[in-house]
Amino acid sequence: IDPTLDLFAEIERLKKEKNAIILAHLYQEPDIQDIADYIGDSLGLAQQAAKTDADMIVFAGVHFMAEGAKILNPSKKVVIPDLKAGCSLSESCPPPLFKKFKEQHPDHLVISYINCSAGIKALSDIICTSSNAKAIVDSLPADQKIIFAPDKNLGAWVNKVTGRDMLLWNGACMVHEIFSLEKITRLKVRHPNAKVIAHPECEEPVLRVSDFIGSTTQLLAYTRNTPHTEFIVATEAGILHQMAKQSPGKTFIPAPPDNNCACNDCPHMKRNTLEKVYLCMEYEQPEILMEEGLRIQAKKSLDRMLEISA
Ligand code: 13P
Ligand code: SF4
Repeated sequence: IDPTLDLFAEIERLKKEKNAIILAHLYQEPDIQDIADYIGDSLGLAQQAAKTDADMIVFAGVHFMAEGAKILNPSKKVVIPDLKAGCSLSESCPPPLFKKFKEQHPDHLVISYINCSAGIKALSDIICTSSNAKAIVDSLPADQKIIFAPDKNLGAWVNKVTGRDMLLWNGACMVHEIFSLEKITRLKVRHPNAKVIAHPECEEPVLRVSDFIGSTTQLLAYTRNTPHTEFIVATEAGILHQMAKQSPGKTFIPAPPDNNCACNDCPHMKRNTLEKVYLCMEYEQPEILMEEGLRIQAKKSLDRMLEISA
């Protein structure tokens, strides 16, 4: 790729030429967020994908997200900057194993977090995201038996806030699992006015010391709308770009992980670069393709979520 190429200008040109829309998750690198047509959490991105009239969807996120856009748009071209951008949470729930687990509990309804493969979506009754999980569970009768997959941390948090006893699949996110409670506690001591805000994919001890818990969009809105001015942010560090942009006078401290890194990046999300965004638009690949039977089956649970969250 020509190093003198103005990638921002080239991407804008390709957007117009190909009637393309760029949907970016809040964990993407700042340049990608700045060139995106829509930036948001998993629910917002799925809703945008469901309503777009673009011919090509450029999904700057991880594979399950782009796959979700394809499930909703079989006739559109869906491209992803890096096909290897996976997700540890999605990987922690292989469809053949989950199918057996589900068969052992035939009287349970299956709610799956959107961070799962099309194969798991096809085995689920309703999909949820971290922003609507509580509302979706609350919409079901109190005596309804539920399996919740694949995130045990989000599942445990939903159990706590809804008073349910859902059966949890033993999956987790490699990014949200490694926040250091000890380092967060030390930061709290050094910054007594800071609010700790966390994503519900974090483990319970981190959630217990948090002042606000929510999806990425909910965390962003909280930092913008609250009068507080200092925050310790326990989620993937890409979100700090939007937080700083939307609340210029406020201070955002990334919660440190339990390793030597100062902040916590998702290696999958960060596989995408501005250069790869340009290349996938220019060459219209890597493209997300899916077998039609699987797509139709997976769409049912995703549609149910979109109906409930409309
Ligand atoms: P949300 O943006 O929906 O909160 O999801 C966070 C996440 O981990 C996505 O991979
Ligand atoms: Fe998956 Fe966690 Fe990365 Fe989100 S942050 S894509 S849940 S590994």
